[in-house]
Amino acid sequence: MGRLFDFMLPEAKSPTADSTDALFHFINEVSLVLLLGITIAIIYFAVKYRRRSKDDKTPVITHNNALEVTWSVIPLMLTLVIFWWGYTGWLNLRAVPDDAYEVKVTGFKWAWNFEYENGAVSPNELHVPAGRPIKLVMISRDVLHSFYVPEYRVKHDVIPNRYTYVWFEAEEPGESQVYCTEYCGTSHSMMLAKVIVHEPEEFNTWLATANIPGSGTPVEQGKALVETNACQSCHSLDGSDLIGPSFKGIWGREELMSDGTTITVDENYIRESILNPGAKIVDGYQNQMASYQGLLDDDQIDAIIEYLKTLE
Ligand code: CUA
Repeated sequence: MGRLFDFMLPEAKSPTADSTDALFHFINEVSLVLLLGITIAIIYFAVKYRRRSKDDKTPVITHNNALEVTWSVIPLMLTLVIFWWGYTGWLNLRAVPDDAYEVKVTGFKWAWNFEYENGAVSPNELHVPAGRPIKLVMISRDVLHSFYVPEYRVKHDVIPNRYTYVWFEAEEPGESQVYCTEYCGTSHSMMLAKVIVHEPEEFNTWLATANIPGSGTPVEQGKALVETNACQSCHSLDGSDLIGPSFKGIWGREELMSDGTTITVDENYIRESILNPGAKIVDGYQNQMASYQGLLDDDQIDAIIEYLKTLE
């Protein structure tokens, strides 16, 4: 009967999904049977015991032991079954297999960053090998987020100052959508990422060529920093207007500030805007950005400046 209701759930792509789905269907089907049974009983009794004449009197009924025991014991049994099923399933979801491959996840406003054993990072793309349990060790850099992959039936809060984890196993190569499912500010709904599942050898090849922070020319490092910090989710690269001014053609641009003064974008302005974003606000925008003081060092800021110079 459960299969009838599969339109309610996305495709299941992790072996742990089956027990979650089975419980979901069980609760749904029990609820449906109860809803139908109770509705039919209400209609039947309403018709059967309707008032037929003016002096129709309801007899005084005080108690019925058999009835009371029945409607207490049946729901109690159902609740116990659902509890036991849910609790053992939850324990299984918390027990990470020993051979799990570990990836570090950082959530922040408004992007995901993934870091691998060799130091490589991949902003907004989680690359994993197929057929191997994956353990995600997650933390937030700012506010509460929640890591959610419907196709793996995996969802867990991502919290500042505290690590949380989930595990799943991707059975086949392919792609799945990651959502943030805790409201976290203006661009919460844009806080998306993809799980990209590779064949194991293909994953090793990807890992060997993935971007390792601090490698490459300053411009390349700056580009990687802009991507891993998701600067482009607020500052577009194509000139379109997002939460902040676009990076396209920013170098040397004359900007009108909200206090009526005009500045020319140079090294000092960019540095100040990264470390103390509220100091100068471009006219027409709100001060929405958090300081990167302590998150980016001087060399990294230099690299970002070099990269912004190239965005003509
Ligand atoms: Cu992060 Cu919503």
